Amino acid sequence: MAITLPEFTPMEDSLWLTLCGKALDYRRSDPILGDRMADEIVRRLGYDCGRFKLSESPIINIAHRTKKMDEVAADFIARHPNAVGIDLGAGLDSRLLRLNPPSTVDWYDVDFPNVITARRKVMPERANGHGIGTDLVDLNWLEAVPSGRPAVIIADGLLAFLTQEDMIALLQRLTDRFPSGEIAFNGYSRFAIWAARKYRGTQSVADLLKSPGFDDPREPERWNPRLKLVREILLTREPEVARFPTALRLFTRLSARSAAWSRKGTTVLHYRF
Ligand SMILES: C[S@@+](CC[C@H](N)C(=O)[O-])C[C@H]1O[C@@H](n2cnc3c(N)ncnc32)[C@H](O)[C@@H]1O
Repeated sequence: MAITLPEFTPMEDSLWLTLCGKALDYRRSDPILGDRMADEIVRRLGYDCGRFKLSESPIINIAHRTKKMDEVAADFIARHPNAVGIDLGAGLDSRLLRLNPPSTVDWYDVDFPNVITARRKVMPERANGHGIGTDLVDLNWLEAVPSGRPAVIIADGLLAFLTQEDMIALLQRLTDRFPSGEIAFNGYSRFAIWAARKYRGTQSVADLLKSPGFDDPREPERWNPRLKLVREILLTREPEVARFPTALRLFTRLSARSAAWSRKGTTVLHYRF
């Protein structure tokens, strides 16, 4: 039976770009993330990922940064089996299925109400998986999440769509809510934001970008003194680069020599609090 999804706003529509990146990575001969569910969802919905004209480089980048955030979450959950997990701006990403945490972990996918409705239509339910439909800028949504447990919070592809003020307020509310936790999100340098506005593959979201970007991974520590940088993950220096196609691998290895150059693409920033 055909699945009818709610009509998405342009902001909600941004989820297709990352979902397609993951689906197209899955179809490669040596996938970086290997997200079968992403591929299954776009196939079942008949969504045409060809419209983004994504070359191998952004496909691999989308899959790679998601893999790094999965690693942060998996490592946290292994140390805190009673954790609460939160995926901010979850889109149609199936992180809970990829991580497959024990039933003692409660996982919350947060996105606009339309997106949470769509998730329920296309994704298998898990007893410990919960959807919260809200605008993340309205900070009351956190009342629905239990507060006394350690939390691992992921924001994959979200923060560039928030103003810096909203991002700071959100981080503050999160660190106030939980006794301890870790958070991982994409670091977008000022150059990366500028490039995303210009690049053909991200034209579909160019007008929606609100963050100015920031270059210093320690900047969030100044916004919120509870945040401590655990690691700036420069994707150019991660082991998966060895599996990149030749030209991309050589270019990435060259970029890896300089942290400043590596930050021209997206990075993954990992903090604890
Ligand atoms: C580029 S998509 C990333 C989706 C998913 N994290 C992934 O990696 O595939 C950005 C997501 O953030 C959501 N989003 C953006 N601004 C939001 C806000 N203010 N409140 C809730 N969700 C938001 C969009 O609806 C969209 O699903």
